[in-house]
Amino acid sequence: MMIELTPFLNKTVRTPLYIQLYQYIKKEIEEGGIPPGTLLPSIRYLSRHLHISKNTVESAYQQLTAEGYTESKPRSGIKVLPLEKPLVPSGHFTYPERQKREEEPARRYDFQYGDIDLDHFPFKTWKKCLQDAMNSDSPDLFLYGDRQGDKGLRAELAKYLFQARGVRCSLEQIVVCSGTQSAVSLLCQLLPSNGRVVAAENPGYDGVHSVFLNHGYTIRPIGLEPDGIDLSQLAESRAKLAYITPSHQFPYGMVLPIQKRLKLLKWADQNDAYIIEDDYDSEFRYQGQPIPSLKALDTKENVIYLGTFSKCFLPSARLSYIVLPERLTEQFCERFGRYSQSSSPMIQRAMYLFMKEGFFERHIRKMKKVYQEKHQTLISAIEKHFGHEVNIIGEKAGLHILMEIRRDIKDLISKAEKHDVKVYPVSDFWIDPNESPSSIVMAGFGGLSEQDIEEGVKRLYQAWFA
Ligand SMILES: Cc1ncc(COP(=O)(O)O)c(C=O)c1O
Repeated sequence: MMIELTPFLNKTVRTPLYIQLYQYIKKEIEEGGIPPGTLLPSIRYLSRHLHISKNTVESAYQQLTAEGYTESKPRSGIKVLPLEKPLVPSGHFTYPERQKREEEPARRYDFQYGDIDLDHFPFKTWKKCLQDAMNSDSPDLFLYGDRQGDKGLRAELAKYLFQARGVRCSLEQIVVCSGTQSAVSLLCQLLPSNGRVVAAENPGYDGVHSVFLNHGYTIRPIGLEPDGIDLSQLAESRAKLAYITPSHQFPYGMVLPIQKRLKLLKWADQNDAYIIEDDYDSEFRYQGQPIPSLKALDTKENVIYLGTFSKCFLPSARLSYIVLPERLTEQFCERFGRYSQSSSPMIQRAMYLFMKEGFFERHIRKMKKVYQEKHQTLISAIEKHFGHEVNIIGEKAGLHILMEIRRDIKDLISKAEKHDVKVYPVSDFWIDPNESPSSIVMAGFGGLSEQDIEEGVKRLYQAWFA
């Protein structure tokens, strides 16, 4: 069977005619307009019929044959081949979807932990730093960059860590990463396996617990006392690795006092253990003096320090860092000698400029005030509306608080949603979620304005008590 073809070929567009012809025939074959077994018109016939050159037709036919839509039969012409399965017509592409997840509707007053204040972010300055980084004539910036991270950025970090966190370290001890999870992932591959057991505060940060589990670690849950991790449980765990948040326990918010810090370091020394100190938000303390890091007291090289730019700058920078004990630096280079740096050299260079010019320090100083005011608004609003009906937990630092209310939390969350407010459950922070208390909700306040915090709390009261 031979057919007539009358495609519309547009000589005024950029797409070459042979491509237009090829696309037309291909589409017809895919959609069944030209059935298998059909003989396409001869080259000479079609070129005359369509007033195009023989080369144009020949090129289109060659492409169809190369892709398996047609075959060229000596003496009989070009024959359309059957397709295994009818293809989805081009132009109707849809993403393959697994199970559809129910999308949660957005709420006007969303106390989402992890959100930060964007109204006071110095976008102009940051854009300028990005632009200056792009104008750099260092080729490193456009290639893979230093494996451990931009040297300038590491130098700025070393300075900052000494001034703000009391950490003394060399550039060789700093490894730039693209977030806390990527840092912990590297550590899981670096540290002596010791039966792959890690002791972790219970409750603690599920984002990191998940990384340990994915690397085949068993997590030994260590309970909390009013002043932080229970050291006797830690001693009983026999673990040789502990992951903790000493300066602002996540999510409860207590600060590990100096006596306990010293005992913790002694434990690590006596057991030849490592402590991973996650110092994720220590910039934001609203009462008393800033607490020096655990790493600052670590004379025996047992503490691995983790810092992140997600709270004090932008989560989207995807920038974090590890400070390794001196004794692990060589091992790090050996183990990861063939790994490329995971965070972008361009972002790292812009951050280097941002820090070098003093913008980072200024930004932190400003944000401390901004968050302190938001925090005060939140606490006052809760006290004003709820009185003693709610117990506020962890109210001296950070970008979130916990609210304890003697009610079922599922009910609290769904009632809040009906008033356009979102607060969050905490059960995932427990290594066994079934052990989590049923009366605590989490409220992050970093991303909300003071007015929205005030209105959100008022609505919570209406939702739960009115
Ligand atoms: C305890 C803790 N550590 C670290 C982080 C930051 O993680 P990242 O650096 O991956 O943004 C968070 C943020 O939610 C956190 O709660």
